[in-house]
Amino acid sequence: MRMEETRLQKYIAMSGVASRRKAEEIIRAGRVTVDGQLVTDPAVKVTPGNIVEVDGKKIEPEGRKVYIMLHKPVGYITAVSDQFSRPTVMDLVKGVRERVYPVGRLDYDTSGLLLMTNDGDFANRIMHPRYEKEKTYVAEIKGFPDRRDIEAFSAGLKIEDYITKPAKIRIIKRKKSSTIVEITIHEGRNRQVRKMCEAIGHPVINLKRTAIGPLKLGDLPEGQWRFLKKKEIKKLDGGI
Ligand code: URA
Repeated sequence: MRMEETRLQKYIAMSGVASRRKAEEIIRAGRVTVDGQLVTDPAVKVTPGNIVEVDGKKIEPEGRKVYIMLHKPVGYITAVSDQFSRPTVMDLVKGVRERVYPVGRLDYDTSGLLLMTNDGDFANRIMHPRYEKEKTYVAEIKGFPDRRDIEAFSAGLKIEDYITKPAKIRIIKRKKSSTIVEITIHEGRNRQVRKMCEAIGHPVINLKRTAIGPLKLGDLPEGQWRFLKKKEIKKLDGGI
């Protein structure tokens, strides 16, 4: 990683060995050496060129963890690369120095909120089926679903070889020959929203993800990304 001079205490905390406060205790307790020399002052400056050992074990700072929300447009593959050279979401986050990758997937023809990070543990927690986050979509679907369709959708639908978990569907607006709905699901199977709408006889015309758990896409313009705020990361990660 690129790093200038850093206080020893911070360097240790960045290595994931301990919190900053704990790192100070470890240093003062005489458990840390820099290039073989015992150091007990947490304010001593080190660089990645120094060999820092805690209890005789070399430590190295991890790269900065970054968390991004991208407003994915239609026409981009959610993958790091594509065998057919189609545009990927990676093309949209070129300005990010860290090597981030997508958390989960949005279809080529789906737009909306996509999380990207270089924090593998966070990504696993967000995607783990046990904690599967509530995901909200706004869809335009063909025709006008009636009460029975809505009840069937909410109760669970048979799709291929599984029954979907209870989901929500709320009508936002009726158009000439289609309906705008808000859909909330807890699973993230392949093309699930499209299949569910198909199953009630109202196929999706277009689909956009507007929220993951408490995190909302808001007014972030299409094709743009932004870093998540600390508060947002905590809420997203903690609320499982
Ligand atoms: N469900 C779908 O059908 N497509 C997506 O991209 C996401 C959820």
